[in-house]
Amino acid sequence: MAEKKMIYLQPTPVRIWHWLNALGIVTLCVTGAQIRFPEYVPLFGNYKNAILLHNTAGFVVAISFSIWFFYYAFVARSMGKIYVPTKDDLQSGILRQAKFYFLTYFLGWENPHHPSPEDKFNPLQKSAYLAIMFVLVPLVSLSGILLTNVDPLRGLIIMVGGLKILMGLHFLLACSLCAFLFTHIYLATLGHTPFAHFKPMWTGWEEELEEHHSPAAH
Ligand code: HEM
Repeated sequence: MAEKKMIYLQPTPVRIWHWLNALGIVTLCVTGAQIRFPEYVPLFGNYKNAILLHNTAGFVVAISFSIWFFYYAFVARSMGKIYVPTKDDLQSGILRQAKFYFLTYFLGWENPHHPSPEDKFNPLQKSAYLAIMFVLVPLVSLSGILLTNVDPLRGLIIMVGGLKILMGLHFLLACSLCAFLFTHIYLATLGHTPFAHFKPMWTGWEEELEEHHSPAAH
């Protein structure tokens, strides 16, 4: 028999950050595609509109990133515990979770990780979110800031290897972020129902199913 238990998993600042960030990054990907390939993706009228929207979305991502950082580092003070994988996660947890996503999910087995507010992410999520939030988003933002301030930051741009290298770097980092987005959304649908992981990101509350076996069943 399965019993439903509700857990408050996603506090309001995390939800505000996440959806602002998602809106900002999706806008950055689409406008970025027009800026890079204007003849194939003429979505926002002219080139100037795409640049303006791209820069505005970059600003939204910077604001939402600050909300995320401030909340986890200074209010919840749980950034290290939630986002950094443990030795056990690296030695066996990642493999256990990958086996679930690639094989046992399709056999109807239970997810080996049960989220709680202190341990929200499975080992694969921890590793992926750590790379995204501490490496990819800061680097793509930093390269974007350099590209929007070429004149005042010329010295720094030369240190990185010049404008062409910087543009290539910004594009490659953005492609990785876009690839993460597709994987992230697909994996988020693998809950006990397709929307089970989306609901807590919207309402804050996760529905956890607890299996109870009667002794007669054994
Ligand atoms: C339309 C786009 C997006 C959708 C539909 C989406 C969906 C979700 C869902 C359902 C969750 C909760 C389940 C889970 O923990 O995996 C989640 C969490 C998360 N997402 Fe997204 N996401 C989107 C965009 C993004 C982007 C662009 C980023 C980062 C650049 C991102 C980073 C994260 C992180 C770090 C978490 C964990 C948040 C926390 O609890 O601290 N998401 N997302």
